[in-house]
Amino acid sequence: MLHAVIMAGGSGTRFWPASRKLVPKQLLALSGQRTMIQSTVDRLGDLIPPDRQMIVTNKILAEAVREQLPELPAANVVGEPCKRDTAPCVGLAAAIIKRIDADGTMVVMPSDHVIASPEKFQAALAAAEKLIDEDPTRIVTFGITPTYPAESFGYIQRADEIPADGVSAFRVEKFREKPDRATAESYVDAGTFYWNSGIFLWRASTILDALAKNVPEMSKHLHAIAGAMGTPEFDAVLEREFTAIKGTSIDYAVMESYDNVVMIEAPFPWDDVGSWQALSRLNDPDENGNTVVGSHIGIDTKGSIIMAQEGHTVVTIDVEDLIVVQTADATLVAPKHAEERVREAVKALEERG
Ligand code: GDD
Ligand code: MG
Repeated sequence: MLHAVIMAGGSGTRFWPASRKLVPKQLLALSGQRTMIQSTVDRLGDLIPPDRQMIVTNKILAEAVREQLPELPAANVVGEPCKRDTAPCVGLAAAIIKRIDADGTMVVMPSDHVIASPEKFQAALAAAEKLIDEDPTRIVTFGITPTYPAESFGYIQRADEIPADGVSAFRVEKFREKPDRATAESYVDAGTFYWNSGIFLWRASTILDALAKNVPEMSKHLHAIAGAMGTPEFDAVLEREFTAIKGTSIDYAVMESYDNVVMIEAPFPWDDVGSWQALSRLNDPDENGNTVVGSHIGIDTKGSIIMAQEGHTVVTIDVEDLIVVQTADATLVAPKHAEERVREAVKALEERG
């Protein structure tokens, strides 16, 4: 059976000041009415019912996630005691699924992407599940045709094509997480590389075996957690064992070395809503190229991204390519080209306490 696991423990610092520790990016509505995590669940349609959907997040966010997803059984929102990146998150989810469904397949998804065509997404998941039924030790990923040499994505090199249901699928030659600029440029030039969308399918048992082989220390802690499932000690064991894990991402822990990976060319439009400029891709800019959320008066204002909270108006005069984000207790003003440096602001604020 197919289970969905949504990873929702990230912090989304590049969306400060809208994104905060207790309200990170995945809990915000950055395009349309639904928040990113709600849209992630909506995207599954009827393919996977709520009792087979799981959200893994930080425990400080668990209640807020439950409030945003009332149709989900409360126990399906799993709170991690601390941030350890995506490999432990995946391992924990796989252990939970394996306990209830020994041959279960899981699709693991980030909670902060925009995918415009849910029907195509669901058809692609069904095709991926079939590829795994044909060879249960397979891992299936979705590749995105790269448009520039991004350093913030993983890259997948395709090898020969294999038959699949209504999608183009390829064996994977190589997976490389976040290469440097020069390497990324050579990949984009080669024409055989794709961006890793961060969406994976595998049997729960397959990924647990791969973690046991590649990161045995982590696997030992996951094993202890799995052993306590269903007992009154579970919370205490989770706290102790999860905290003892050395964090790493699933991309480094498994994807870079696993040798039975198949990539489906994503048949759906995909946007990793990485930083403020994504807002202009997701919401149509006005005739001056401005993307505005909330109340704004722009006089000679061009190409800017403006966000104001309810009851507040932002006025800009004679500015171009600016990001202005106003919230109750913090306001960001930065040129678009410096958007990555928002991280520095978050760090400075943390240091200030
Ligand atoms: N539960 C949990 N715990 N979730 C986490 C944690 C954690 O400690 N850390 C991150 N996440 C969630 C994030 O909220 C996000 O939804 C997802 O896991 C991916 O984490 P990111 O931190 O956003 O990863 P990334 O963007 O650097 O890289 C990944 O995604 C790219 C595509 O967007 C990789 O898979 C890349 O290869 C890929 O190209
Ligand atoms: Mg990301």
